[in-house]
Amino acid sequence: MDSPASHRPVAEPLLKLDGVETYYGPLRALSGVSLTVVQGTVTVILGSNGAGKSTLLGTIMGVLDGQPQRGSVTFRGQRIDGMATEKIVRAGISYVPEGRRVFPELTVSENLKVGAYTVRDRQSTLRTLERVHDYFPVLTERQDQHAGTLSGGEQQMLAIGRALMNEPELLLLDEPSLGLAPLLVHQVFDIISQIRDEGVTVLLVEQNARMALKVADDGVVLENGELMVSGTAAELVDNDEVEELYMGAASTASTEEAASATSDTGDGDDVDLES
Ligand SMILES: Nc1ncnc2c1ncn2[C@@H]1O[C@H](COP(=O)(O)OP(=O)(O)OP(=O)(O)O)[C@@H](O)[C@H]1O
Ligand SMILES: [Mg+2]
Repeated sequence: MDSPASHRPVAEPLLKLDGVETYYGPLRALSGVSLTVVQGTVTVILGSNGAGKSTLLGTIMGVLDGQPQRGSVTFRGQRIDGMATEKIVRAGISYVPEGRRVFPELTVSENLKVGAYTVRDRQSTLRTLERVHDYFPVLTERQDQHAGTLSGGEQQMLAIGRALMNEPELLLLDEPSLGLAPLLVHQVFDIISQIRDEGVTVLLVEQNARMALKVADDGVVLENGELMVSGTAAELVDNDEVEELYMGAASTASTEEAASATSDTGDGDDVDLES
């Protein structure tokens, strides 16, 4: 459906899913998922393990063969469901999948170059590279190091940096904070809000609901492949069910934090994820 160009609403959705259904063989992993992502926002997808969060991002990127079986995915007014992933990337969507996928045998700077493969304009690539180095100074220090020898946190930064090299309009991030120490988690969320402030729209999957809702503008909750709640981040924070189900872990961490504040270590942060 085309919107009349003269009366274009300010908050036009950049991405729109309508009645999306995705299957793994006979298993329906997404049922009737409809959501919109407004340009210039961070939207977070919350949900328990196995809820279908990664499947949702995979469906948008066209990495799941023949999926979605029903429904539509529209990016900037153009249908992208059924399109090849390569074309989706060229249309302006970058994707950082779960787990840090870098090319271990390539150096940091080679990984970033690979990320820019869709960009023709060399000047523009150099500007983006500068931006990525501003976001992640550690990548400058380590530019000649093989990516496989970076620490987990550094690899996550490289994976995000590489996705940005494609100069996306929309960045999909699958659990960027997973396995990072608290300080790095903060850094990653800071960078996500900077990326948004510079005009890149972000769709983020996170288990760390408390942190994610601080940065996000909007959010949705997936349960068993269905969208149960959607609203602004403030609405989600106030939602009792969201609090009980997804912020429970964070309150446990707060208790531990309070306990550790009386001990010698207490680095005073929300979560204590393993690295
Ligand atoms: N390749 C696959 N083949 C068959 N079933 C799959 C496949 N990938 C995922 N599933 C199933 O689809 C459902 C949704 O999985 P998905 O990975 O999207 O969940 P998730 O919300 O990302 O979970 P997590 O938080 O653990 O990453 C799960 O029941 C999972 O077992
Ligand atoms: Mg997942």
